[in-house]
Amino acid sequence: MKKNAKSHSKKLILKLLEEKPRGTKGTLVHIAKNIISQKKALIEYAAAHRSPLYLIDENHLHHDVQAFMKGFNAHLPGHEAYYAVKANYHPFILKKVVQDGLGLDVSSERELKLALEAGAKKILFSGPGKSEDDLRLALKHADILTVNMDSFEELHRLGKLTNETKTHIRAGIRFFSSVHGAWSKFGIPLSQLKKFWREAEKFPYIDLQGLHFHISLNLKAEKYSQVLTELATYLEKDFTKQLREKIKFIDIGGGYYPDNVEGFYPWSDHYPWTLSGGHITKLAHEYYGEKASFKDKYYITRAESQEEMAKKIGQTIQKRLKKLVNCVYYTEPGRILVNNSTYIIGTVMDVKDKVIITDIGINATGWEFGQHFYMPIVNLTHPDTKEKEMLVYGSLCTPRDFWGYYIYAKTVKTGDLIVIPNQGAYKFTLAQTFIKEIPPTFTI
Ligand SMILES: Cc1ncc(COP(=O)(O)O)c(C=O)c1O
Repeated sequence: MKKNAKSHSKKLILKLLEEKPRGTKGTLVHIAKNIISQKKALIEYAAAHRSPLYLIDENHLHHDVQAFMKGFNAHLPGHEAYYAVKANYHPFILKKVVQDGLGLDVSSERELKLALEAGAKKILFSGPGKSEDDLRLALKHADILTVNMDSFEELHRLGKLTNETKTHIRAGIRFFSSVHGAWSKFGIPLSQLKKFWREAEKFPYIDLQGLHFHISLNLKAEKYSQVLTELATYLEKDFTKQLREKIKFIDIGGGYYPDNVEGFYPWSDHYPWTLSGGHITKLAHEYYGEKASFKDKYYITRAESQEEMAKKIGQTIQKRLKKLVNCVYYTEPGRILVNNSTYIIGTVMDVKDKVIITDIGINATGWEFGQHFYMPIVNLTHPDTKEKEMLVYGSLCTPRDFWGYYIYAKTVKTGDLIVIPNQGAYKFTLAQTFIKEIPPTFTI
């Protein structure tokens, strides 16, 4: 590296080290208290079904779905929600969400089959790289399905198949804007929407009706509003009135984050997208065989309420888009609907000084969450509203099989029952048969 470049890099690293964490100081003791209040029922439940297990609380799930619908129905014109199956494809969840009147958003042939088995009445098929087999299955269900096309190539693939089979299909176009950054792998640039629309008109069986975007992990409404504003500017300038009249839906995707149920450590601010100053500090200490010390134990992830997000998004629509397009708005919520109603329950298998080995780990959650995300862990057998500093591991043969650094417990003994709440999203879907089986799911 040249001398100038090296000193510039050093400056940037020093600047990063000075960054303040973006989380909120606090605790999630309210979650521990809630679990403790259900102690008797949860213990009885775990006794009836051998741990480890996932437990889905049906009423809680229904409540969370209704809360989302209430907020977004109130503020988005003609709102229709499509639950993103990738957040948790468990058949019980799909069935319940469908019963609650939502459509399903799928991203593959596999998810499409699950959605059909769950009795979905409305399906969105999003996701990049759809194969001919994916699209053929989609065409068989064209009466209930809309394909959100991801590229010009996909348009041609779909066009060829619809011409061949003479099947009409509803479709949308996924686009990305300047807000999307690393997520620009999905869809086409906003600036090419008009070209795409004109190209799609060459295929008589493709009924292009809408526009689609998605941004993940949003704590606030801001990014949705930014994309919608960019879209409005583009449509005003580049789409004729006649073309705008063809837009029947705008799908604003998922990405709504739950409030006040999890956190992150000083070294995992920004995780997993970019490196934080805390991460560099931790790695440097570990490299030299030391333990880094941080001022705060962890930070709590706070997000705007669903009602607040919906209201702000609705305001942007009213201000910028209503005068341009008369359409309905779709959402594709995943995490926010299913995260908080699932508990993971396990048993302490061993206690070695400050180390706890449980019978449940990354075979239930996928890789490396515990190292970065703070999740309240409650010892149901010896609960407390204060946390003990201990290392809570799973029992797989890797140190990465790790739950966290703290446990709400008076004491911890072999055989104690532990509960980790708010584990419904992107855990069962990412769980893997690594050394041990994926645990079974039960419902209450
Ligand atoms: C296209 C699309 N829609 C919806 C979602 C659901 O996002 P979330 O679970 O964050 O709401 C995702 C997740 O990656 C997605 O890719």
